[in-house]
Amino acid sequence: MWQQRADVVVIGTGVAGLVAALAAHRSAQQRPLRVVVLSKAARGDISTATFYAQGGIAVVLPDTADSVDAHVADTLAAGGGLCDPAAVASIVADGHGAVADLVRSGARFDEATPGQWALTREGGHTRRRIIHAGGDATGAEVQRALNDATITLDIRHEHAALQILTDGGEVRGVHVVSPDGPGVIHAPAVVLATGGLGHLYAATTNPSGSTGDGIALALRAGVAVSDLEFIQFHPTMLFDGSAGGRRPLITEAIRGEGAILVDAHGDSVMQGVHPMADLAPRDVVAAAIDARMRATGAPCVYLDARGVADFARRFPTVTASCHAAGIDPTRQPIPVLPGAHYSCGGVLTDVSGQTSLPGLYAAGEVARTGMHGANRLASNSLLEGLVVGARAGAAAAAHAASTGSGRGGTPALPRQEILDRADLQIAMSRDASVVRDADGLRRLSDTLAEAGSRPVGTRAGFEDAALTLTAQAVAVAAADRTESRGCHHRSDWPETDGAQARSTVVRLVDGHVKVDNSVVAA
Ligand code: SIN
Repeated sequence: MWQQRADVVVIGTGVAGLVAALAAHRSAQQRPLRVVVLSKAARGDISTATFYAQGGIAVVLPDTADSVDAHVADTLAAGGGLCDPAAVASIVADGHGAVADLVRSGARFDEATPGQWALTREGGHTRRRIIHAGGDATGAEVQRALNDATITLDIRHEHAALQILTDGGEVRGVHVVSPDGPGVIHAPAVVLATGGLGHLYAATTNPSGSTGDGIALALRAGVAVSDLEFIQFHPTMLFDGSAGGRRPLITEAIRGEGAILVDAHGDSVMQGVHPMADLAPRDVVAAAIDARMRATGAPCVYLDARGVADFARRFPTVTASCHAAGIDPTRQPIPVLPGAHYSCGGVLTDVSGQTSLPGLYAAGEVARTGMHGANRLASNSLLEGLVVGARAGAAAAAHAASTGSGRGGTPALPRQEILDRADLQIAMSRDASVVRDADGLRRLSDTLAEAGSRPVGTRAGFEDAALTLTAQAVAVAAADRTESRGCHHRSDWPETDGAQARSTVVRLVDGHVKVDNSVVAA
């Protein structure tokens, strides 16, 4: 088994991971720190969730009619009573500074007039405050800029983290599998920036690497995760007849520019459902589409964008996806349906990404800072990744500098529970989708209990084990919440229950995921 040493290990190369790595690297000015970044993907594969982000970055620009208070209020309203207001205020307030740093790293955003960024709207925003790049290719620009800015950093491709190594209640390193076989990177600080969990489902807007890795790594390290029942289904994933895997996103910004959702008869889906109609928060729109599809028996609804001016120039990514599916969005409504998109919950952290385990940090989609509550406001995710990624990287570097490099053991390959991925995705898509109920969640738990223990020593094996454990955690959290709130819709508990206005926290106890009410997430 190979062994190496580092001061800070960052796992993941999307926005939060690369910003964390840059921040750790920059804070190494007094004392040189070895910052190592791990990516499961092969060199040249840039398909992170960040890369696929379309709409943009929600940010309050100075000297505009917008305000931090208004952005905070919209975030809290979308979050269904479960956001941590202090966390939201802290992250939103640092948004403009974080975007300015990104611009210093080379990112360029679309301009309405020279020197003035163009602003769009998405669901739940009462103001136009979303900056974008390349029309609807914002994530690609963010990823390009960060890839360029981190070109001299030590980024290891085809390195999958198998487990976080701890000793004496502290992080000691990461057990990794690489093309050279299993190894250990001994390090006192680790930042989880592994992204989301969309591949729990048969169809998702997420890239193939979104397999719940960080949730599983944290749970196995004894760290709590929270709000996992709140999986956000994007209202408009392209319905192109393909069975599954990553499916194209149809950005909500198209509705921000006036497009509307209709059913096969041309009737509006959102009129009368919410005062903001087609720009209602995402959970409301996804549930309304799901209800209309159930009522009509149709496999999709339609986004009518024929009235959107200059569509192909403003939305080139969506135009290309539609053309690939034989659809001309300027002449015909786009067939869409809700698709698994974003985990509002994750590893429980503070607003600097600190978990309860000294030396372990989490940032980006994998983390639960209290920003998103029960339903994330559109385009708040790149914002959170930028702000908390930088804080987590700096905090990890400070921890490493104060602790010195520890040395862990050399572990054997772990044995972990694995359920066949196709069976897992079928069960999750059937029983833990937009609308859930107790019978379905029980059936899901029974299916997940069929997982068998196997040694894990490859990326694929680790991903299957991570999906299995993450699905178990989602099932436990969803069964525990006997109400409907945000992205969690229960057909058997359709009302919101004021007594359940608190986050669900789960842990791994003796190999089983359990709700832990002794930990109160803010
Ligand atoms: C979109 O462009 O609709 C997605 C943006 C987001 O998920 O925040």
